[in-house]
Amino acid sequence: MAPYKPPADGRLGKLRLDFNENTVGASPAVVAALQRALTAESLTVYPEYSEARPKLARYFGVSPEEMLLSNGTDEAIQVLVNTYVDDGDEVVVLHPSYAMYRFYSEVAGATVREISYRAGTLEFPLAEVLAAKARAILISNPNNPTGTGIGRETIQQILEAHPETVVLIDEAYFEFSGVTVLDWIRRYSNLFVSRTFSKVYGMAAMRMGCLFSNAENAAWMRKAQSPYSVNALAVVAAAAAVDDADYIAHYASEAIAARADLQAGLATLGIRAFPSAANFVLFEAGARAIEVRDKLRDAGVLVRDRSYEIAGCVRVTAGTRAQAARFLEELRKLW
Ligand SMILES: Cc1ncc(COP(=O)(O)O)c(C=O)c1O
Repeated sequence: MAPYKPPADGRLGKLRLDFNENTVGASPAVVAALQRALTAESLTVYPEYSEARPKLARYFGVSPEEMLLSNGTDEAIQVLVNTYVDDGDEVVVLHPSYAMYRFYSEVAGATVREISYRAGTLEFPLAEVLAAKARAILISNPNNPTGTGIGRETIQQILEAHPETVVLIDEAYFEFSGVTVLDWIRRYSNLFVSRTFSKVYGMAAMRMGCLFSNAENAAWMRKAQSPYSVNALAVVAAAAAVDDADYIAHYASEAIAARADLQAGLATLGIRAFPSAANFVLFEAGARAIEVRDKLRDAGVLVRDRSYEIAGCVRVTAGTRAQAARFLEELRKLW
């Protein structure tokens, strides 16, 4: 296995447009709830989930039996793979996509087969995915780092073509795309959906996610999960976050507007950007990708070089419109 390289330190205080986080912060209601919950006594007690679980299930429109709380999406992927994938099984992932699908599959001893997005257009390779034979297919929708999304009909085709295959639809960026298949978990027994509190909710540091499937599948996965993997403060934060739906909706609409500004601004500079349904935009800086990243960093703006997996490409997070304007201004100076 190639070792996993965690993100660079020292990002706090810079304009962080490199990890698709919320760029303004979690809701003040989340911070207040954490401050109330943080006592010497509360820290002594193992986490309890009995209040938060039904509340979060209600928020997501499922029953508590159809949901696992997880230590970020990363643990959701790990639990899913550990439950269903054995040594030597084949797991299909898209390329490029979220690195942890490969990571946990390899840890489980699976053979990872990558199906590439179409060169040039980054169109979803549906024919190849439909033809693939695998124990699991792990899909990010919208996809990171391309930003491209697939519709419900496409997901339906995949689910129906592979009734015996575990299909994960990772909806980490759902709030920016509006496309979900969470309502299908009772209809398709091979469907698994994940959500995270790391993106729109502004809680990446808390490590909080949810994994959904029908009750029978969820019961199997619960057997493969450590009982206290989600810490008590993460649960408090998530419960407070879903109470402040206006904050989430407001941030999502701001990021969607910033995304449009980024695409328009990049076009004005003559830079090609790919269509995005997420809170980031992938653009072509060509041979200057690394230079662009480094010069922007010197100007206090962090973006992510992706040229190691898609030639010449750089990814920039859409935060607020003012932040998009600052990024475009710095880029214009160096372009
Ligand atoms: C597709 C996708 N899924 C999941 C995550 C991370 O989720 P979490 O922080 O909940 O582990 C990311 C973060 O970049 C992502 O891009």
